[in-house]
Amino acid sequence: MRVLIIGGNGRTGRFVIDEALQRGHKITALIRNPSTLAAKEGLKIVKGTPLEPSNIESAFNAVPGDLPTAVIVTLGSSKEKGTRVMADAHENLVVAMKRHGVSKIVTLASFGVGSSLANITVIMRWAISNTGLANSFADHNHVDEILKKSGLKFVLLRAARLTMAKKAPVQFLGDDGKGLGVFAGMGGISRASVAGCLVDAVEKSTWDGRTPVITN
Ligand SMILES: NC(=O)c1ccc[n+]([C@@H]2O[C@H](COP(=O)([O-])OP(=O)(O)OC[C@H]3O[C@@H](n4cnc5c(N)ncnc54)[C@H](OP(=O)(O)O)[C@@H]3O)[C@@H](O)[C@H]2O)c1
Repeated sequence: MRVLIIGGNGRTGRFVIDEALQRGHKITALIRNPSTLAAKEGLKIVKGTPLEPSNIESAFNAVPGDLPTAVIVTLGSSKEKGTRVMADAHENLVVAMKRHGVSKIVTLASFGVGSSLANITVIMRWAISNTGLANSFADHNHVDEILKKSGLKFVLLRAARLTMAKKAPVQFLGDDGKGLGVFAGMGGISRASVAGCLVDAVEKSTWDGRTPVITN
């Protein structure tokens, strides 16, 4: 299948592109600075931002006759109060997906978003309320609401702390991350492992409509 990736030149996005290409998928990557991503067979790079609907449209139409049939989002969010990079991007994506009849979207969210907040460590709960993480988590919370209302087949993977370690086995902990104890998620999960889960979630329907917390 062809997958549209948003955030493809980011630290997790790069693993997603390699993982998807290795599995025989084709990728369209919408990124602001194409020079930051090396050309690869099966990878179509489109210059632009998901904050501009016409750029998303260009990405959907980038390869004539080969429309993306799923979207993976590994976009970052800003710490600047009031900004909604992820939420605005998802609102634009939902409109474009419906226009093109594309129903599957898999987004990298975070442990601590939505109903999983109650199960993260006390320190992280404090940080989410009192530091620069507040806006980022507010943005992720908006995405949670947008996708749940969208009518699309969504998967929101609520990843624990991201690391650059090797790909390793992944624990799926339910939608809220219950049962991890006082050090919940502190061991983290490698971006390479997350990439594998994001591509799995596109290929399978196992987690459709779900928000699993994932950690190594
Ligand atoms: N850090 C953690 O421990 C952790 C844990 C769980 C979940 N997460 C979430 O995981 C996601 C990805 O993390 P990551 O570390 O892989 O991200 P990253 O390396 O920081 O990459 C972020 C990506 O988002 C793009 N981006 C950022 N702001 C943008 C904007 N205003 N317009 C267009 N594109 C923009 C970047 O493109 P440019 O190169 O053009 O800026 C880049 O492709 C984030 O949403 C983060 O909140 C993080």
